[in-house]
Amino acid sequence: MKIGITGANGQLGRLLVKKLKKRTDVDDLIALVRTPSKVIDLGIDARVFDYDVPEALAESLQGIDRLMIISSSEIGQRKRQHANVIDAAKKAGIKSIVYTSLLKADSSSMSLAPEHLATESHLKSSGIPNTILRNGWYTENYTNSLKSSVKAGVIIGSAGEGRISSATREDYAEAAAVVLTNKGHLGKVYELSGDEVYTLNDLAAEVSQQVGKQIPYKNLAESEYANALEEYGLPEELAKAYAGLDYAASKGDLYDDGSILSRLIGRPTTPLEDVIKVALS
Ligand SMILES: NC(=O)c1ccc[n+]([C@@H]2O[C@H](COP(=O)([O-])OP(=O)(O)OC[C@H]3O[C@@H](n4cnc5c(N)ncnc54)[C@H](OP(=O)(O)O)[C@@H]3O)[C@@H](O)[C@H]2O)c1
Repeated sequence: MKIGITGANGQLGRLLVKKLKKRTDVDDLIALVRTPSKVIDLGIDARVFDYDVPEALAESLQGIDRLMIISSSEIGQRKRQHANVIDAAKKAGIKSIVYTSLLKADSSSMSLAPEHLATESHLKSSGIPNTILRNGWYTENYTNSLKSSVKAGVIIGSAGEGRISSATREDYAEAAAVVLTNKGHLGKVYELSGDEVYTLNDLAAEVSQQVGKQIPYKNLAESEYANALEEYGLPEELAKAYAGLDYAASKGDLYDDGSILSRLIGRPTTPLEDVIKVALS
C-alpha cells in the first residue's frame, strides 16, 4: 500500500512521515513536495508536487494507493489548490484520501472554515473514499510567542474567556498516521481536539507559575489586538486575520470535548504544561 503525503516538508508533514516510518515500510512512503531536495533528510522517495501546477499532479500520483492531503498554507488559494489535487487523484485512480480540515468546519465562525468546507464537499463529490481529520488548533500557536510575552510581561489576545482544547502537531500527526495505516476509518469525519480545556487566563497562570512571576493575560478588542499585532510587525491583513481567529476562540470555535484524538492515538494528548515548558526552555 503506497502512501503519498503532500506538505511533507511542512511542520506537520515532517512529524507525520517520522510516525509513518515506524508503522509501515519506508519504501511505501512518497513525499509529494514542491522541492524534493528539501526532504532528502526524511529518507523516503520524493516527487515534485505543486498544487498550483494542476497539469503535472496526476502523473506524480501514479502508483500511489492512499493519499494524505495536508491542507495548504496559502490561505485564500486553498479551495482551488485542494480541488486541483482531488481532481488529479481521481484521474490517477487514488483509492482513498485523508484530508486535514478544521475543527467544526461546518459550523465554525472562523474565516478559515469556508475553504476547508469547500474541500470537504469537493472530496465528497469526487466519490473517492475518504477520511476527514478536522484538526483543532495547534497548542504551538499559543506557545511559540511565549518567550516574547514573558519579556513584555503580558500575554495579549482577543479570546476572552473562550475555552480552548488544542493539541500539539505531534498529537495530530500521530492521529493521521493511525488513520493512514489502519482499516476502519473510511467515511469518517473526526473532530480532533486536545483532552485539556483552558482559557488564555489559564495559559497565563501556568506561564506565571513556570517563570515565577506574574504574566497576566490582557484581553483586547479584536481591532485593538489587530493593531498590536501590526505594531509587532505583522502585515495589516495578516494581523486582522489573526485577531479575527483569536476572537472566534471567544465564541467557542476552538473548543470540543469529544476526546476522539486521544482515543485514536491511544494516549492522552500532550499536556499544556509540557508544551509551555518546552517553549520557555
Ligand atoms: N490547526 C492549526 O492550528 C493550524 C495552524 C496553521 C496551519 N494549519 C493548517 O495545517 C497545515 C499544516 O500545518 P503545518 O504547521 O505543517 O504548516 P506548514 O509548516 O506551513 O506547512 C505547509 C506545507 O504546505 C505546503 N504548500 C504550500 N503551498 C503549496 C503548494 N502550492 N504546493 C504544494 N505544497 C504547498 C508547503 O510546502 P513547502 O515546504 O514547499 O513550502 C508546506 O510544506 C497548514 O498548511 C494549514 O493548512 C493548521
